[in-house]
Amino acid sequence: MSEPLVLGIETSCDETGIGIVRGHTLLADAVASSVEEHARFGGVVPEVASRAHLEAMVPTLERACETAGVRLGDVDAIAVTAGPGLAGALLVGVAAAKSLALSLGKPLYGVNHLAAHVAVDQLEHGPLPDPCLAMLVSGGHSSLLRVDDVTTGVTPLGSTIDDAAGEAFDKVARLLGLPFPGGPHIDRSAREGDSVAIDFPRGLTSRRDLERHRFDFSFSGLKTAVARWVEAREASGEPVPVADVAASFQEAVCDVLTRKAVDAAVTQGIEDILIGGGVAANSRLRAMAVERAEAKGLRVRVPRPGLCTDNGAMVAALGSEMVARGRTPSALDLPADSSMPVELVLR
Ligand code: KG4
Ligand code: ZN
Repeated sequence: MSEPLVLGIETSCDETGIGIVRGHTLLADAVASSVEEHARFGGVVPEVASRAHLEAMVPTLERACETAGVRLGDVDAIAVTAGPGLAGALLVGVAAAKSLALSLGKPLYGVNHLAAHVAVDQLEHGPLPDPCLAMLVSGGHSSLLRVDDVTTGVTPLGSTIDDAAGEAFDKVARLLGLPFPGGPHIDRSAREGDSVAIDFPRGLTSRRDLERHRFDFSFSGLKTAVARWVEAREASGEPVPVADVAASFQEAVCDVLTRKAVDAAVTQGIEDILIGGGVAANSRLRAMAVERAEAKGLRVRVPRPGLCTDNGAMVAALGSEMVARGRTPSALDLPADSSMPVELVLR
């Protein structure tokens, strides 16, 4: 018998994603983003995102089926992001998934968005090593997780206590007059700049902070430090060296992220680090993570950038794993859970 065909639906933020996989093979990954509608607000507007999901759902679904060369009737299971995320946005995906599961008579899996960011790597690099240490960094989350089994055993080791890493990128980009979302623009600008030009603070790395927050992150102090630095420059009438600020800021973020990820892996006795979420697309983060991990004899896995940002393939990948491991499907009264805890992989 061939491996199960699983359709995954993602609507937790501003991307309407429909992915289709067969086992670990990716057949289609259709994404419609409302990012441009939010750009002038400098951040995602929940109501705008929900409306955009409603409009994009059916066309994106059709596009995914066409790319994969399958009919809806061929699908063996439906997976959907049940949380965490924006409540109204999640609701659109969950409602669509329930309708499909009910009308097709197929099992429904309401899965955790964070675990899906981990599971997606299987589509590119094969089965996940277990255990592995996952660092998820995006506009909405920054966490270090111990993953023993992506369908049941995800243990949080630390997370951000204020801004998410991607949020810091977006806010600093805004300060520098770069477009939203700022991460890719900072990444590009930083290549022309000097990463040691300005010594920005590394949050939660002092000896005292490490006692309580060894694996936690804080980026709000860094963001404020950049704002003060830029303001002082402007007040003195000097031009702001955008590339140097971008490079020095990026260096500070990547330094803390990779330092803590490697420390967590070593402490947990884990040899594989997996990085996911939109910020994993950052070129400096990738390079620094590999360099620091290899120095400790650890391996790093990072999915290609298109699979790091939010998409439906990641949800399909996790759903496929649920089917493969015989997990009990969700009930048809599955709720959208905007603050779904990371330990709860399947709702
Ligand atoms: O995972 P994602 O698509 O959506 C969320 O769940 O948030 O991540 C989006 C975030 C944004 O904050 C964006 O600025 C950031 O990922 N990002 C980057 C890069 N590409 C995207 N940050 C730094 N460097 C990049 N190259
Ligand atoms: Zn995400």
